[in-house]
Amino acid sequence: MLDETPDAHFADGPWAVETHGLTKRFGDNVAVNDVELLVPRGCAFGYLGPNGAGKTTLIRVLLGLTHADAGTMSLLGYPVPRQRDRALARVGAIVDEPRFHGHLTGRQNLQILAAARERAARDRIEASLERVGMMHRADDRVSKYSMGMRQRLGVAACLLGDPQLLILDEPMNGLDPAGMHEMRDMIQTLVAEGRTVMLSSHLLDEVERTCDAVAIVDHGKVIRQGPIAELLAGAATKVHVGCSSPERAQSILAATALGAQVDLETAGLSIHLAAGTGRDTIAEINRLLVEDGIAVYQLQEVQVSLESWFLQVTSRLGESE
Ligand SMILES: Nc1ncnc2c1ncn2[C@@H]1O[C@H](COP(=O)(O)OP(=O)(O)OP(=O)(O)O)[C@@H](O)[C@H]1O
Ligand SMILES: [Mg+2]
Repeated sequence: MLDETPDAHFADGPWAVETHGLTKRFGDNVAVNDVELLVPRGCAFGYLGPNGAGKTTLIRVLLGLTHADAGTMSLLGYPVPRQRDRALARVGAIVDEPRFHGHLTGRQNLQILAAARERAARDRIEASLERVGMMHRADDRVSKYSMGMRQRLGVAACLLGDPQLLILDEPMNGLDPAGMHEMRDMIQTLVAEGRTVMLSSHLLDEVERTCDAVAIVDHGKVIRQGPIAELLAGAATKVHVGCSSPERAQSILAATALGAQVDLETAGLSIHLAAGTGRDTIAEINRLLVEDGIAVYQLQEVQVSLESWFLQVTSRLGESE
C-alpha cells in the first residue's frame, strides 16, 4: 500500500541521506551551516569533526528532534519532514547515550520498545540480541551493564525495526579498545548486510578504520566529503629520505625551487610535498642530493593518515582537540 502514494518513487534515490543548504542556528551560533551532505547507500559513513563542530545537532535535525532553519533533506529518498514517518520506520538511531530502564533486563527493555513498533519487531528481539553478542547477559538488569553493553543493547534496539539506515552519534564514546573493536566489527557486519551506517565521531582513527566515506565538519560546515581513499589521494604526501649529512641535504633542497617543507629527522629528512606531486619530484630530490655528493640510503613515501589530512583541512592545526 505504501508504494501507491505519489511520493513513493523518492525512496529509490542513490543516497541514504541527502541534505541541501541545511542550516540550524542557536542565536548567532550557526551549529549546522549550509550543509550539503550526500551519504551513499550501503556504506559506513563517518561525520567527522572536533567537539562542538555540530555533529549531534545535524543528527538531531535529520531525525526531526529539532527543526532546521533552512535547507532541505531526505532520508532513504523520503523527503523529511514531509514523509518523516515513512522514513523513520526504516531508520534506527542512537543519539547521545542510549537510554534504558535500569531496573529491567536487556530483554525486557527490548520487549517494551518492540511493543511500540510493528508486530514483526517482537519477532526480531532474539535475533537482535544475538547479533550484538548480548544473549548471555539478556536477563541481567541494565543497571549492571557496562557502557559497552549499553551501547550494544542500543544497537539491538535499533535492529528491532530492521532498519536500512542506522544513525549513530559517537558510537565509540566510552568504549575501551576491545569495545571499540567489537563496535567496529558490528558496524561492518551491518554494512555487509546492505544497510547504511552513518556515524558521527571526533575520533579520526576510528573513522578511518571503520568507514568507507567521510564528511569532515568544522564550525558547522562540511569542508570535504567523499570516499576516504579518494580524499587521501588528494592530500599532501610526505617523503622520508635516509641520507648522509642531513643538515647539508636540507640546505641543498631549501635552495631549490621544489618549494617543499624539509624537516630534519634522525638519520635523514622528511619532506612535505603538495597534493598531486608526482613521482618525478621524488626522483628529482634523489638526483639533487646525489649530484651534491650525498649518499641516499632510502627514499620512502609515507602514507598520509586521515588524521594528518584532517589537520590540514581544518583550522585546528596545533590544537590538541
Ligand atoms: N540546545 C542548544 N542550545 C544552544 N546551543 C546549542 C544547543 N545544542 C548545541 N548547541 C551549540 O551548537 C554547536 C554544535 O554543538 P553539537 O553538540 O552539535 O556539537 P558536536 O559536534 O556534537 O560536539 P561533541 O563532539 O562535543 O559532541 C555548539 O557550539 C553548541 O554549543
Ligand atoms: Mg555531539
